[in-house]
Amino acid sequence: AKRKPVIAGNWKMNMTPSKAEEAVKETVELTKGMDGCDIVLCVPFVDIRVAVRATKDTQVKIGAQNVHFEKNGAFTGEISADMLCECGVEYVIIGHSERRQYFGEIDATVNLRTKAALKAGLKVILCVGEILAERQANITAEIISMQTKLDLAGVEADELKNLIIAYEPVWAIGTGLTATPEQADKACGIIRNVICGLYGKEAAEAIIIQYGGSMNDANAAELLAKENVDGGLIGGASLVPAKFTEIVKAAQ
Ligand code: G3H
Repeated sequence: AKRKPVIAGNWKMNMTPSKAEEAVKETVELTKGMDGCDIVLCVPFVDIRVAVRATKDTQVKIGAQNVHFEKNGAFTGEISADMLCECGVEYVIIGHSERRQYFGEIDATVNLRTKAALKAGLKVILCVGEILAERQANITAEIISMQTKLDLAGVEADELKNLIIAYEPVWAIGTGLTATPEQADKACGIIRNVICGLYGKEAAEAIIIQYGGSMNDANAAELLAKENVDGGLIGGASLVPAKFTEIVKAAQ
């Protein structure tokens, strides 16, 4: 792709702080000098402190996996954008399908989180994607277009520079089933068209759209070679620094 790719790991609910420190350090070491893409590790909240420390002045940036939309207040168990920023977090994943599937996340709350995170200056990795039944019913385009529009409602054009969209077909997540490069390219292209409709051609050309769903060291290169695929959001394979590094290498 013509845009600088972003390779982001999503550790999900893995790695205690001591393990995180080791894995982050190893990732930093292994990816040294690979500046052909931006490199991000999205870690559990409690790992942020060690991860930020271990990546200080390195090529690896740290992200969180969710953020609350209110600034502060009586929201037991939640974490605000300001808290993340002060801890040195630069990115945050919003609307991951696991949050939608298991934690009642809906487009309305994805939208609120996205706006709050962007206002606070975080870079947002917004996840959209169809479930298997939707792909089989041939409504993938409708679903991902609708999600993109609802999730971005009220997001201003000048905030788009801090927005990444991750196309993650739910049937490909953690299943070992990967979308074909053609399927990934087509879906990312549909999302790019929606951005074009909402914000114009220039914005659509500039926005980073990642693919996510069983991306690994073996299939990354052919996915990343596609015109509309500007990087990856990697779950399982990001837990193994050597594998994650191979994906980063494929994006150089
Ligand atoms: O956020 C990452 C995606 O959910 C992909 O996870 O690479 O384990 O399939 P996976």
